[in-house]
Amino acid sequence: MTDDDSEALILSSWQANAGPWITAVREAQIESRRLVTDSAMLAAIDACRPHSVLDLGCGEGWLCRALHGRGLRAWGVDATASLVDAARQADPAGDYQCLDYAAFSQQPPALQVDLVACNFSLFGAEELERLIASLPRVLKRDGHLVIQTLHPHVACGDAPYTDGWREGSWTGFDAAFRDPAPWYFRTLESWVTLLEDSGFLLDRLGEPLHPLTGKPASLLLTARAT
Ligand SMILES: C[S@@+](CC[C@H](N)C(=O)[O-])C[C@H]1O[C@@H](n2cnc3c(N)ncnc32)[C@H](O)[C@@H]1O
Repeated sequence: MTDDDSEALILSSWQANAGPWITAVREAQIESRRLVTDSAMLAAIDACRPHSVLDLGCGEGWLCRALHGRGLRAWGVDATASLVDAARQADPAGDYQCLDYAAFSQQPPALQVDLVACNFSLFGAEELERLIASLPRVLKRDGHLVIQTLHPHVACGDAPYTDGWREGSWTGFDAAFRDPAPWYFRTLESWVTLLEDSGFLLDRLGEPLHPLTGKPASLLLTARAT
């Protein structure tokens, strides 16, 4: 399977699973989000003191709504039309655009924000590299990029600790989820190198712990545009 095939499967999987995803997020069914990662993401954003945020891969829009509730200006971008529709319905005054990362990197929207947020929304390989490299164009000087993603040590499992495509799985999710997409595993070193190669300096690396397992619930990277 080529990189392009895998990237296409990511998009089609989100289209297929938009309904169960909206339910899972809005009914707080995902324990790690409820206990750790939602608040960790908000705290990481708060620490940068932004006035304006672009939420890339915003899904059904919970983060934009939370940021609006804090008085921030927020824009959401996502490729999955039904998730963008759900975000708009829940937040009619919000600003949501249906756009995939390939189109975004080719022609980033004419926005200048203080911070770009990516909450568990980066799964690809080369397309993701082009996306990150395009982000300095939408960030104000000294703007921040905050990425929350699967923790490489926890997500690696028994496979070798090297970058590469992995099979997806919905283990632990409701039975309504189907067609898991492949995702591109990155080591910690690879994440940091990707940021540096894309014009960012790592400011902070967080590993919020799951209170029940004692393991990292995520990797939380805060970087600054140079
Ligand atoms: C796990 S969900 C996270 C959604 C949201 N950030 C949240 O915290 O609930 C991943 C999101 O990334 C979006 N996504 C994945 N690949 C994308 C791509 N190539 N372009 C745009 N959006 C993409 C999906 O549509 C989905 O909404």
